[in-house]
Amino acid sequence: MLTINQLYKSYGNIRALNGISFQLVPGEIFGLIGRNGAGKTTTMRILSGLIPANSGSAIYNNIDLLHNRKLLKQQVGFMPDFFGIYNNLKVHEYMEFFASAHGLYGLKARNRWTELLEMVDLLDYSDSFVEDLSRGMQQRLCLARVMIHSPHFLLLDEPTSGLDPHNRNLLRSILRQFSEEGVAILLSSHNLNELSYICTHIGILQSGKFLLQGSLSDVLRNVNKTNPLSIFVYSGIETAVQILKQHPLVKTISIDQSHIQITFTGNAQDESLLLKQLIDGNVLIQSFHREEGDLDTLFLQLIGEEEEN
Ligand SMILES: Nc1ncnc2c1ncn2[C@@H]1O[C@H](COP(=O)(O)OP(=O)(O)OP(=O)(O)O)[C@@H](O)[C@H]1O
Ligand SMILES: [Mg+2]
Repeated sequence: MLTINQLYKSYGNIRALNGISFQLVPGEIFGLIGRNGAGKTTTMRILSGLIPANSGSAIYNNIDLLHNRKLLKQQVGFMPDFFGIYNNLKVHEYMEFFASAHGLYGLKARNRWTELLEMVDLLDYSDSFVEDLSRGMQQRLCLARVMIHSPHFLLLDEPTSGLDPHNRNLLRSILRQFSEEGVAILLSSHNLNELSYICTHIGILQSGKFLLQGSLSDVLRNVNKTNPLSIFVYSGIETAVQILKQHPLVKTISIDQSHIQITFTGNAQDESLLLKQLIDGNVLIQSFHREEGDLDTLFLQLIGEEEEN
């Protein structure tokens, strides 16, 4: 497990990270989401040793990796958000090059890159030129490359951006496979829907701080709180409105004939208790449910609200 504590980073007088803490656990996939400039790339560049933090630590087996570059390089694989240019290099040469950079040569190197190219479905392309591969293939090749030294922690900066749905699916299933093998994964995206397909944990980053972080289900529940509760009343609408107006967790009420929509800040148990209260008040309820919203719209609402405060 990698425990990241209170990372701070400024570029001149721009504060990019403002004390973020989280954990990367084997078998878990942590998704960093935030709009442009939130600090996603900065976090990954610090954790991969490319740039120093101003303060903070990343503890693995009681050792701070931020102060032990050798161990950090062994334990962490980083896939940046750009592929780079590799003219006149064949796929197997590319893999051999990165294997040798990690001290893997000969048969050992060959076995490892063959295994990885097979995993990312590119073994048939080992004699192709890297520049001739499609974007999706290059992305998968890059993933194979960052796994060459079998790191325990994999950092991927916007790995699915620019990929079509088929390639996105393929990439996700490769990541799931790595995760099942015990690799801890950190990945970033602008898209909460995208992360919700694959992540076990989510951190919503805003101006270098977490607005919200936790298990996927906790975060989605929290984000969903901004969704209205929709209540269709068969009879007893006046009583229903009276009860709702007096409820401390009901923030707004709108009524359209027998349909009431409320903004309700309670949790699932509060919702059930509200339903019971309405039924006990002899209101006949036809349906009672949370509206399902598009996660990204809700995410934007959430970070928008924070900016206004
Ligand atoms: N090399 C740099 N020099 C100066 N400022 C920088 C540098 N790199 C990043 N920043 C600033 O630090 C903040 C965080 O940037 P970062 O690249 O980490 O955000 P991000 O979440 O990855 O954004 P994006 O979604 O656009 O990739 C931004 O305000 C950015 O302008
Ligand atoms: Mg970035």
